[in-house]
This record gives sequence, structure tokens and C-alpha cells, in this order.
Amino acid sequence: MKSEILRLLKENDTYISGQQLCEQFQVSRTAIWKVIDQLKKEGYQIEAVRNKGYRLIESPDVMSKAEIDSLVDTKWAGKNVIYYDETDSTNNRAKEAGNNKEPHGTLFVADMQMAGKGRRGRVWKSPSGSSIYMTILLYPDIPPVKAPQLTLIMAIAVAEGIREVTGLETKIKWPNDIVVNGKKICGILTEMSTEIDYINHVVIGVGINVNQDTFPDDIKETASSLKMELGKRIKRSGLIAAVMKIFEKYYEIFQETEDLSGLQELYNSMLVNKDREVKVLEPGNEYKAYAIGINQTGELIVRTPDGKEKEIYAGEVSVRGVYGYV
Ligand code: BTN
Repeated sequence: MKSEILRLLKENDTYISGQQLCEQFQVSRTAIWKVIDQLKKEGYQIEAVRNKGYRLIESPDVMSKAEIDSLVDTKWAGKNVIYYDETDSTNNRAKEAGNNKEPHGTLFVADMQMAGKGRRGRVWKSPSGSSIYMTILLYPDIPPVKAPQLTLIMAIAVAEGIREVTGLETKIKWPNDIVVNGKKICGILTEMSTEIDYINHVVIGVGINVNQDTFPDDIKETASSLKMELGKRIKRSGLIAAVMKIFEKYYEIFQETEDLSGLQELYNSMLVNKDREVKVLEPGNEYKAYAIGINQTGELIVRTPDGKEKEIYAGEVSVRGVYGYV
């Protein structure tokens, strides 16, 4: 009821009468008043006027199940939100839920992670109050070898979601870092449980730097936040909802062909490495090449100095700009 009341308050610029809410939810005026009081305690500014009702004046950067639920407008992606003030890692929560066959599209969100994980076994520092840490649980009916393509779909969804909410010009650093003005503002970590020829579940974890003002010395040259790039705070729940809406749309396009052919052009239009020289970092082998764009399965096509085209697979390989991170 709380998220539904919140949604109604958000959808209406005018007052909603207490009577209307009572009738809609079949509860007493006191029950409605209690929900409104809870919302106020969470930081929502709600005006209550006798004989008129309630009106939402301002919602803060609240992260809660009710807030996210009130904003998500999808068929399945993020339709079921499990929210934690703190947890070890939302990827761990999603994997556990995958083993228990929780619904496809369930979204795990935390305000803080005690053991946030980055790619290549790195730590993803996850303090409270400023970032988005979320993981979506999926049961794709595709061969395991195709699963990494889902990460690229999430990269497009995050890049586009941030553009929609902030107007910032986001880019994708292959395969799945999101950058703004050459700095990383989002990382994605996909993990899966598979058998030889089928997928039990896939979890796609997304960490977005939203309202940080600074970063630790070791990453401050390459990392940034939306607030630092935009000069103002962003409401995290609204961004989560925007990303879910876009992810759902592009996932369904992927399902039609089970590859990225319907999204390749869009991805390449956002690719920061496109038509640039990159340093390809293969284990034990580092070389310069010219990046052309991704193919239909998400490999990066590069031209090596001897003029040959090569497709590089994200698993073991990463790319850097010749002069730095991008
Ligand atoms: C990277 O190294 O770029 C990937 C970072 C992924 C971080 C996110 S935060 C939510 C989810 N839970 C985790 O433990 N990691 C991912």
C-alpha cells in the first residue's frame, strides 16, 4: 500500500483526499495517516490540508523498496524489488535467489555493500548514501556462450538511462564500463550458474557512482560520479527505474535473434573506443590496434598494425586508450 500511495502522490500534482485513499485501499483514515507519517519520516515533504487532502511537494534521494516500486514501470524487469539497507553483495543475494528460483527479473538493490565485488576479483568499494548497487536475476533460454552479450545490453541500458535522467553524454568503454567525460561512472559484473549446455541463471550486477563528491587516491584519476560531472545530486531510485525500463526493452530485442544484431548499431554509437587507437591487453601479450566496433556477438573488432582485422573476446582481454583509461 505504501508504494501505491507514493505512486499516486507522484502522479498527481493536486491534492488527493484522505477519503479517496481510504476507499481505494479499503482501510481507515488512521491507516492512511500512518503511511503518510512514515513517508514524512523518510524525508518526503507531504503537505496535508484540511478538506483537501495530501500533496507531495518534494521527494528526496530515498532508496527504499516503496520508492523504487513506485517508479518502476515495466512488465518484468525490476517488477519484484528486494531492497537491503546493507548486504555483502547484491550479486550474492541474486545468485542465492537464483538457486531458489525466485522470479525472472527480480532486482536486488542495496544502499551499502560490505563485500562489493568488481571484475577480475577486485573489490568494489560500496559506502552508503551515494551509489547504486543493484543486480538483476535472469533465466535466459540461451546457450551459456551467449550470456556475456547480456552484459552489453545492460551497458546500453545504463548509458541510455543516465542520458535520459541527467542529460549527460554517456559512452561505453568496451565491453561494459560506462564513462562520462573520459571517467568511469559505472561498472558491471555478470556472474552465472550453468550446466554444459544450458543456463540455470545469470545475475547482472551494476554499480553506478551517483552522488559521491570524491574518490580514493588510487582511482580518482579514472573514476567520477554523476554529481561531480553534473554539479547536482541525482535521485537514485528514479535512475534505477529508468535503467530497468530500457533494459527490458533491449532484452526483448535480443531475444528475437539471440544475438546483438538489433542493438549493435546503438552500442557502437555509444562506444568510446570506436575509431580510436587502443591498447589491447591480452594475458602475456599487449599490442596497439585500431578499434572498429562490436560485431553481432559483442566481440570487439580491431585492426592490427599489419592491416588484419581481429575479433577480441572480452573474457580475458581488456582495452585501454593509448594515452590512458579511454
Ligand atoms: C567492475 O569492476 O567494473 C564491476 C563492478 C560491479 C559492481 C556491482 S555493485 C552491485 C553488484 N554487486 C557486486 O558485488 N558487484 C556488482
